Amino acid sequence: MKKAIELAPDSWLPGGKPDPLIHHQHGHVGKPMSRIDGPLKVKGAARFSAEFPLADMTYAAVAFSTIAKGRIAALDIKAASEAPGVVLVMTHLNAPPMKPTPLFMTNAKAAGGDNLAVMQDDRIHWNGQPIAVVVAETQEQADHAKSLIRVEYEAEPATTSLAAAKAQGTEPGQFMGEPLKLEIGDAEAQLAAAPHKISVTYRTPRQNHNAIEPHAATMAWNGEELRVHDASQGVAHTAWSLAKIFDIDEKQVNVTSPYVGGGFGSKCLWQHQVLGAAAAKLAGRPVRIALSREGVFRVVGGRGLTEQHVAIGAQPDGRFTSIIHTGVTVMTRHNAFPEPFIIATRSGYAADTFKLDVEVAYIDMAANTFMRAPGEAVGTFGLECAIDELAEELGMDPIELRIRNEPEKDPTEGTPFSSRHIVEAYRAGAERFGWSQRTAPGTRREGEWLVGMGCATGTYPYYRMPGGAARITLTRDGRATVAVAAHEMGMGTATVNLSVAAERLGLPLHSVSIEYGDSTLPGVILAGGSQQTASIGAAVIAAQRVLVTELLKLAGNDSPLAGLGADQVGGYDAGLAKLDEPERHESYASILSRAGRDEVVAEASAPAPLELQHWSMHSYSAIFCEVRVNAVTGETRVNRVLGSFDCGRILNPKTAASQFRGGIIMGLGLALMEETEFDERNGRIMNASLADYHVPVHLDVPPIEVIWTDIADPHTPMGAHGIGEIGITGTGAAVANAVYNATGKRIRDLPVTLDKLM
Ligand code: MOS
Repeated sequence: MKKAIELAPDSWLPGGKPDPLIHHQHGHVGKPMSRIDGPLKVKGAARFSAEFPLADMTYAAVAFSTIAKGRIAALDIKAASEAPGVVLVMTHLNAPPMKPTPLFMTNAKAAGGDNLAVMQDDRIHWNGQPIAVVVAETQEQADHAKSLIRVEYEAEPATTSLAAAKAQGTEPGQFMGEPLKLEIGDAEAQLAAAPHKISVTYRTPRQNHNAIEPHAATMAWNGEELRVHDASQGVAHTAWSLAKIFDIDEKQVNVTSPYVGGGFGSKCLWQHQVLGAAAAKLAGRPVRIALSREGVFRVVGGRGLTEQHVAIGAQPDGRFTSIIHTGVTVMTRHNAFPEPFIIATRSGYAADTFKLDVEVAYIDMAANTFMRAPGEAVGTFGLECAIDELAEELGMDPIELRIRNEPEKDPTEGTPFSSRHIVEAYRAGAERFGWSQRTAPGTRREGEWLVGMGCATGTYPYYRMPGGAARITLTRDGRATVAVAAHEMGMGTATVNLSVAAERLGLPLHSVSIEYGDSTLPGVILAGGSQQTASIGAAVIAAQRVLVTELLKLAGNDSPLAGLGADQVGGYDAGLAKLDEPERHESYASILSRAGRDEVVAEASAPAPLELQHWSMHSYSAIFCEVRVNAVTGETRVNRVLGSFDCGRILNPKTAASQFRGGIIMGLGLALMEETEFDERNGRIMNASLADYHVPVHLDVPPIEVIWTDIADPHTPMGAHGIGEIGITGTGAAVANAVYNATGKRIRDLPVTLDKLM
């Protein structure tokens, strides 16, 4: 029988009731639904940031430094300035005054990848730093004029190699204000005493962001007001940060970002938006600044390299006595993002003792930043390969070894898990994948091809960042609009949240629309940390409560709902109904028209994310992989992949499957291809193009099966966990472990390229 859906309580508090949508099996949630933006994208009608046509537009091209550190001694822009179509050339000599960029996490709305002032002096901080911007009538004229700029530098000694950086000493890393260091018991002593152990070093390289849509912004000033069409994971963050930089009020900046062609952590605030806004100010005309693919490598930071030492001690039965995960990553002095590769290790396995530590070495380079599952993606490469190595040493099946060390509560925090069903995910995945057919290392050969299987665990934290807010506008025609300052980067945000909102409100899908991608909308919601849907969900819950309270007031004494309180009614059949007596129902249209109202507007902020203080909360995966390694050439081909996920309630199986698959594909790139070639003599990225920096193409991607437990977490909105970053996590180790099983060769340096297998 259909039932009214009661208002969601604060399910995230101990003793709180779970979100009623968790158990609602007959609505939109949990049904496969195609992306609502799909048709627009297929038709080319979805307008991306570099596609907004503005009157009197100009186009920008950026020139980059070719030294890592020093100063600009001479800058000859005469030829460039006189080239056809050139409107102006902006350098540090004529750029408008700008304050330093607010560095991410130094304020709730700070969006900057670094904390440098942009183009305010002659200093060079990295090889690739913008040194001049040419603004012209066409992009081609700007690009040509840029090539005419001549620069002389006074170079200073720079630190551009890991060895030199380490020689200068390392410092303890911090992530989100917390130390990346943790010791429980005497892990070194336990390791020394352990009857079985593994102690090895893994290395992961720099990686650069290559979202399919290169970074771009179209911007215009109207007096003191700045309008920005950006490709953004944080419209409210970017608006606030630009306001700080230009020393104007936050309300004077409007950032819109209706469509984003992939973000993965890279689409916050970098120099190009600041330069575009500055150039537009100088020119008195709108500017479009679209980074070339090379420009993205120069301006936008990537994932820092890591050197990880992993040591695990175990009893003969496989129980871990000691987990040590320490090492070094690199960072610049002008940012604060050490690749936090120990995060997954904090809650992955039970052990008697722990020693975790990320140390930072400083290099003169572009500020590194978040890149899909920062920390976890490469940290699980170290941890999960080490477990595979230890299983071999113990003569145990690697899945059984993992299950033997499954913790009952968070092993380092001591908090209970809110919802952890990783063993079920492993069992289901192993069965489906045919894990029992795995043979001893190097024993399965088909012609020239050595075939092997591997697996690995992935974990990614559940987050819900503070700042979420939503507005619901209900109109007399029975339609609702949900407005949130959120982002659609291709993952299905608009689709999923539309279906969730429609179900909560008891409306058909076609009666609900969702507004997002605009900094004037409520809330400060980052599309990052795999937490956007939980943030939106909690905000919509709060707004619905306000809406229902208001509607009951409007309904008054002549309504079938007369005398009922908000907790007694729910969304049902385009209106409200008494929960246990759905005949007592009045439609939204009827309530509004009787009250003589055209619309009701309800806005509210999400409650603080207190669930995170009570539980250890994560998404989980078991990744299975079969590879073929050519015995003659050393090339690795991934034959098939299966991801078995435990990520709470899956809200939309269709978009979720795509998210999981996309993450796994990025993980295949991490395992086999992605590597920024950094010239350690001068700090220059040498492979700043997709011809030289390899990511998987269609032919590299095998059939990928994804399955999930679909067990709702009672302590989150909708019972869901984030799924944006779990797919890449564990995939690198699963591939490397499969390569070992195929060849008997253990590759501990990513990517696993053929030269390492020859
Ligand atoms: Mo993600 S690296 O938090 O966009």
